[in-house]
Amino acid sequence: MPSSHSFDFFLNFDSWSRDHLSRFLSIAQQVKIKPQSISLKKTASLLFFESSTRTRVSFELAAFQEGYYPSLFSGKESTSLEKGETLEDTFENILAMQPDLVIVRAGESFPMQDLAKQAHIPILNAGWGVLSHPSQALLDLLTLKDQFQDLQGLRLLVIGDVKHSRVFQSLAEVAKLCGIEMAIAAPRDFQVDGFKTFDDLEEGLRWAQVAYFLRIQKERHSHKFSEQAGFENFFWKEHQHQFFLQRNGFVMHPGPVNYGSELSREVCRHPQSLILKQVANGVFARRALLRMAQEGAI
Ligand code: CP
Repeated sequence: MPSSHSFDFFLNFDSWSRDHLSRFLSIAQQVKIKPQSISLKKTASLLFFESSTRTRVSFELAAFQEGYYPSLFSGKESTSLEKGETLEDTFENILAMQPDLVIVRAGESFPMQDLAKQAHIPILNAGWGVLSHPSQALLDLLTLKDQFQDLQGLRLLVIGDVKHSRVFQSLAEVAKLCGIEMAIAAPRDFQVDGFKTFDDLEEGLRWAQVAYFLRIQKERHSHKFSEQAGFENFFWKEHQHQFFLQRNGFVMHPGPVNYGSELSREVCRHPQSLILKQVANGVFARRALLRMAQEGAI
C-alpha cells in the first residue's frame, strides 16, 4: 500500500488490488463503530453536473464527518452554466479556489481523466456517464460483506438494463477482485459479453444468492427501444417470493427504484432486501474513501 500520493484520483479500480479492498473494508467497518470528532479544517468541492440524491448527500455527509467543509455545486440552475460556461471551465475555476479535494459526477463526455491528471489534489468519481460508479461498487461490497463473511464464490445475479449501467461496470470490477461469481439476466439487447447469462429470470433466481436489480436507463439509450423492450420478463413478480426470498435470497438495487417496473415497494421493504442498508453504507464507504485519499492510498 503506497504511503504517499501515487494516484491523485479515483476514477475506477484499474490500480486497485485485493489489498486496497482490505484496507477499504477495514476503514469502513471502523468508521461505523467509532464516530470521529469533527473539526472542519479542509474543504471538499462537490461538483454534480448530473442529478443525484444518494451519492450527493452521502458524499456531503461523509466529507463533513471526515473534517471537510462540503462546498456544493449542483445542477445548472443559478450557476454560470446557464450563461454558457463549459463544464471544463467550471471545473478549472473550482480548482482555482484551492479545495483540498474534488468529488465529480458528470456524463461520459466529460474529460474526467485528463482533468484529474492535471489537478494536484485528489479527484473522486461520483458517477461518470455509463463508464463507472466506483463508490457505489464499494458501498455494495460493504453491504455484501456485512451479510456474507466469505465473498469468494458468492453467486450475484445482476438483472435489468446491464448494458447502460455504470453501476454494473464498477460492480463487475470489484466482483472480479474479490472472487464473487457474477451473472446477468437481461433482454438480449441489454446484455453484455463475458458473463454467465440467463434469458429466463426464474432460472437465474434459482442460481443466485443475491439478486441485484437495475432500472431501465432510458436517458443513456442511444436509440429508442420499444416501450418495454422485453424487460417485462425480468420484472419482479410476486410468486418469486416463494423460491427466492423464502430460501434466504437477498435483493439489492442502487436506487432510484421505479416501483411496478423492476421491483415492487413490498419487496424493497422486505427483511431480505438490502436496499436501505446499501444507502446507509454509502456514508461509511465514502468516509473510508476520503480517508484513503487523505492517506494517499488511492
Ligand atoms: N445510486 C445512485 O447513484 O443514486 P443517485 O443517482 O441518487 O446518487
